[in-house]
Amino acid sequence: MFKFRSERLALVARSVSLAALLCSSALVFAQTPGRPATPAEIKAWDIDVRPDFKGLPAGSGSVARGQQVWEAQCESCHGAFGESNEVFTPIVGHTTKADMKAGRVAALAKDSVPQRTTLMKLSELSTLWDYINRAMPWNAPKTLTTEEVYAVTAYILHLGDIVPADFVLSDKNVRDVQALLPNRNGKIAKQFMWGVADKPDVQGSSCRVNCDPKVELTSRLPDYARNAHGNLAEQMRLIGGVRGADTTQPAPSSFVAGANRAAASSAKPPSNLGNAPNPTKLAQQHACLACHGVDNKMVGPSLKDIHAKYKTVKDSAALLATKIKAGGSGVWGSVPMPAQAHVPDADIRAMAEWIAKGDFK
Ligand code: HEC
Ligand code: HEC
Repeated sequence: MFKFRSERLALVARSVSLAALLCSSALVFAQTPGRPATPAEIKAWDIDVRPDFKGLPAGSGSVARGQQVWEAQCESCHGAFGESNEVFTPIVGHTTKADMKAGRVAALAKDSVPQRTTLMKLSELSTLWDYINRAMPWNAPKTLTTEEVYAVTAYILHLGDIVPADFVLSDKNVRDVQALLPNRNGKIAKQFMWGVADKPDVQGSSCRVNCDPKVELTSRLPDYARNAHGNLAEQMRLIGGVRGADTTQPAPSSFVAGANRAAASSAKPPSNLGNAPNPTKLAQQHACLACHGVDNKMVGPSLKDIHAKYKTVKDSAALLATKIKAGGSGVWGSVPMPAQAHVPDADIRAMAEWIAKGDFK
């Protein structure tokens, strides 16, 4: 890919200035006529690791190294022992030695614990390795080395008492560890979502030609589950186009069972996604709320705590604006806040005034 790209750029460089080239190179590349992907290009995308460990790169990592990775890059969100319920359901907890023997987590069948942790559900070690490799840390996916992925996976398994403290996980012994997973026999082929009277709610019989344009939803997430993980709109990762629904509000009527398209077009948007940009919306848009809760401490302090700390400071809005733009560390703890220089000044000012005023409703 890189060879191909640089040849292309060299060709273009003959006719345009360097500055123009820098601005237009992405466009030029995108306009290149189609051709089969090269093996190197395919390799860059083809990173999945399968249950039989096909695709797993050779390598290894120790629990001890994994602890360092965890403390530096995972703990702020998932807690020192993988027990935090702040940004996601706990990763570690509620698996027993008896489960490891049976290969089935008893608490899953009994519904005896409030939440299902990752280690309770995990039936394939490849899934844990692959997920961390492609998606974590949440704010910087695909930045871990292969050794770090092995190591931090080993550390999580150690937190769950599945491997000892001196363990080194590698491509040579993954199958042995797979044979220890507490829920390795827990996978079922038919997943009846939310238990719809023993029948799958997707039958695979959907219309493909001359279909009735009227859409009728016959199954949906129960209301009690909508906000099970807090407000999804505030938790989206900093990259990518996907934005979560505001789950503090009831589902828009267009999503309610039985509603059809006519109802959808007249449905009101959720209250905080109105047209006029307001500070809550700005904070969502600039991903501040990925790290700051209004009421709760997440990666950074809660907005209410920030408000309380600065409310007696003169012209605190100006001070907060400077701090937001520059980022910082050491005021609230060891986790740094990245500089927000890419956020327009007017937006920073609006959010600083909002926090200074403390008017979060
Ligand atoms: C900035 C916060 C943040 C950091 C840092 C972070 N995570 Fe996560 N992690 C999340 C969120 C949010 C999810 C849920 C993502 C989703 O479901 O889309 C998640 C999900 C996971 C899951 C999947 C759990 C499941 O059952 O589906 C694993 C495993 C995990 N993280 C491991 C790690 C590891 C290992 C690191 C460090 C290398 C890390 N995380 C760093 C926020 C974070
Ligand atoms: C990647 C996580 C992250 C993001 C994104 C983030 N912050 Fe922060 N923020 C933090 C952390 C961590 C701190 C605490 C830093 C410290 O201890 O000095 C903090 C501190 C702050 C403070 C208090 C500064 C002080 O010195 O007391 C304000 C105000 C603030 N953030 C506003 C914002 C706004 C507004 C945005 C979006 C434009 C934003 N933050 C985005 C993590 C983040």
